[in-house]
Amino acid sequence: MESTKLIVSQSGPLYGTVRIQGAKNSVLKLMAATLLCEGEHLIRNVPEITDVAIMSELLSSMGSKVTWKTPNTLSICTPATKDLIPVASYELVDKMRASIVVLGPLMARMKRAQVSLPGGDDFGHRPIDMHLDALSHLGCTFSVSHGYVSGVCEELIGQDIVLEFPSHTATDNVLMASVLADSVTTIDNAAREPEVCDLVAMLQEMGAKVEGAGTSHLRVIGTKSLTPADHEVIPDRVEAATFICAVGVLGGEVQLDGARNDHMDMLVRKMRKMGVDITENSSGLLVRSDGSVRATDVSTLPYPGVATDYKPMIVAVLSVSDGVSIVTENLFSGRFRYIDELRRMAADIRTEGHHVIVRGVNRLSGAPIKAPDIRAGAALVIAALVAEGQSEISGVAHIDRGYERLDEKLRALGASIERE
Ligand code: EPU
Repeated sequence: MESTKLIVSQSGPLYGTVRIQGAKNSVLKLMAATLLCEGEHLIRNVPEITDVAIMSELLSSMGSKVTWKTPNTLSICTPATKDLIPVASYELVDKMRASIVVLGPLMARMKRAQVSLPGGDDFGHRPIDMHLDALSHLGCTFSVSHGYVSGVCEELIGQDIVLEFPSHTATDNVLMASVLADSVTTIDNAAREPEVCDLVAMLQEMGAKVEGAGTSHLRVIGTKSLTPADHEVIPDRVEAATFICAVGVLGGEVQLDGARNDHMDMLVRKMRKMGVDITENSSGLLVRSDGSVRATDVSTLPYPGVATDYKPMIVAVLSVSDGVSIVTENLFSGRFRYIDELRRMAADIRTEGHHVIVRGVNRLSGAPIKAPDIRAGAALVIAALVAEGQSEISGVAHIDRGYERLDEKLRALGASIERE
């Protein structure tokens, strides 16, 4: 049983500079992409988070050698095909559903794979049908038994693929499968997230031919072989958003070194509407606030819309705003569990289907609370920092999955937060 807690007390304005970590939702896919060819790959600006440790364990279980070369630089030595074991076990996939992104590269390189089916989670039902449909189109045959999906193919042949929804990881999987396919693959309604562009950039460095990154139409010209990568991960826009939200409610002036406005434009616009002053400068973003927040309606959408990953933090911010806001979730049916915890802190929030109605209150009240997932955990930290008195946050392991020492970084800016 994990017993780590964060002890958080009401805090004043935050001041200082924070360096934004490498993006979790990029690095996990970049690590999977190393399966595509033998040799030593270097990935730089890697955040030291639990999900990276889990992906390292998964690659190691397949025969790769994963080591920290220096802090934040990972060396991944991928073995020859004969020594690669194309199996992702239940134990590891159960710890991290993003493990599914090994399916595409394994099918491309090994022509077979066995990956445990990810279960449901706190976001509700999360199927992988689009991944399997698209890979089947390229020539894979899948069967499900004993909780595993097993895929085989003779060879992958480029096709025109249309995704029903611009799924982020389905796009990643198809991309990684198609770079080694015979002839041309097109992916329509592809995800446009900056992390998908980062994966394309690394694949291009490895010798893949991909056009259209950042648009909803990707074109991949299959190639016979790739070479190892040396790639630097883009900054984590969700971590940057977390600090913007914290400064928004607590007030202060914080420089986010490395944060990229072009990766989070819609969020920046929304936060400005709420009264947070955000300016771009040569090293990142400067965030200033007097701690008062205006009520604003928000809807989550695939990129370039406001990401669902920002939503829990936005709800925490709006819970102490000056009026009523409606926040609409359009991606995940069940991403609401943290709301019960916010209510326990005296927030006035109601859910109606996929809408959250947030009535801003003058004060939140510190309480023992539990983080149900990564982003909800960050939202509860923000709420606890603004709440009167002290809060004890459990479920810290969820936060550590995606955030590199969030508590230390906030403490350095003046927040009262201790790990127990
Ligand atoms: N969907 C299907 N079938 C599929 C795939 C997706 O119905 O085969 C549905 C999902 O159920 C959901 C929607 O499509 O309703 C969008 O899901 P998507 O596939 O885009 O999400 P994902 O790729 O599983 C990634 C991030 C999430 C982030 C979402 C949305 C990674 C590892 N995960 O998940 O990040 O919330 O995109 O942007 O990249 C997080 O960082 O905490 C996190 C959960």
